[in-house]
Amino acid sequence: MNVLGIETSCDETSASVVSDGTKILSNITSSSLSFHKKYGGIVPEIAFRKQLETITQVADSAIKKADVKLSDIGLIAVTNGPGLLGSLLVGISFAKALSLSMRIPLVGVNHLYGHIYASLFHTEKIKMPFVSLVVSGGHTTLFYVKDFNRINVLGETNDDACGEAFDKVAKILGLGYPGGPIIEELAKKGNPRGIRFSCSGTKQPLNFSFSGIKTAVLYYVRRTKKHSRNDIAASFQETVIDTLIRKSFLACRLKKTGSLVIGGGVTMNKRLRERFLQEGRFNRIKVYSPDKDLSLDNAAMIAGLGFHLRGRERLGG
Ligand code: KG4
Ligand code: ZN
Repeated sequence: MNVLGIETSCDETSASVVSDGTKILSNITSSSLSFHKKYGGIVPEIAFRKQLETITQVADSAIKKADVKLSDIGLIAVTNGPGLLGSLLVGISFAKALSLSMRIPLVGVNHLYGHIYASLFHTEKIKMPFVSLVVSGGHTTLFYVKDFNRINVLGETNDDACGEAFDKVAKILGLGYPGGPIIEELAKKGNPRGIRFSCSGTKQPLNFSFSGIKTAVLYYVRRTKKHSRNDIAASFQETVIDTLIRKSFLACRLKKTGSLVIGGGVTMNKRLRERFLQEGRFNRIKVYSPDKDLSLDNAAMIAGLGFHLRGRERLGG
């Protein structure tokens, strides 16, 4: 069955056609990122205006590129949260209108669960239950996945999201937005153990806290006149990865699972991927990570997961 996925939860407008939850026939994403850069973050008003302008064309291109007709689409899957309200509304309204006018059933998909699914495209059948860590600009959450429609939260951030901390540290260092890729680049030239940073402890061991380390970076920069941005980036990044690894593998041990799925924009980070894989080999836990083109927000992950939610769909949602 061909599923048309629609994703508009943040600054991207994305549409994709995925066959049987595995084969990506097209995955087209248009981002309004360049319009937000000068404001140092996403401006919701700009995001949804651009999405309104582009959604029809992006969906059209996805269908053309997949070389299918609208009548070949058996299901529409649309991100229904979490995300920016105006942005989500653009995708949901478009999907509802298409569903009703073409009589194609519609299913809503959770954006974070989509990020989990992004790592599973090449996996025949993953043994459930498994633990999953989603690290993005808005969320840092550990999930326990019993099935694609039975997902529990094991832990989440008490304050800033992990990607948000990368973005804020980049800002403190006078760098651009988004901060993640810039910090990663600087970190390659720095000493990861050069400065001793730490992430704040949390009462619940599987929760996260990243606001303290961000403030520690701010104080360090103010205090140390001749600081090395490379060392700060490398030490910050390494400390954050240490914490993500420690908590994710603790969750696997507590839940006695041999599979860990990581997803979300921060998994673009090569150092993070390598360290998770290394730790997985050491602990005999298989780590699944998304292909690079599926790490950031995209509609293929929504269409892919939508296929597994068949049976819950309705005309017009
Ligand atoms: O999942 P995503 O595309 O959007 C949300 O749903 O939030 O994630 C975006 C986040 C941003 O905070 C960005 O700084 C971070 O992912 N990011 C990275 C890297 N590339 C993007 N963080 C660390 N290293 C990277 N290479
Ligand atoms: Zn995302």
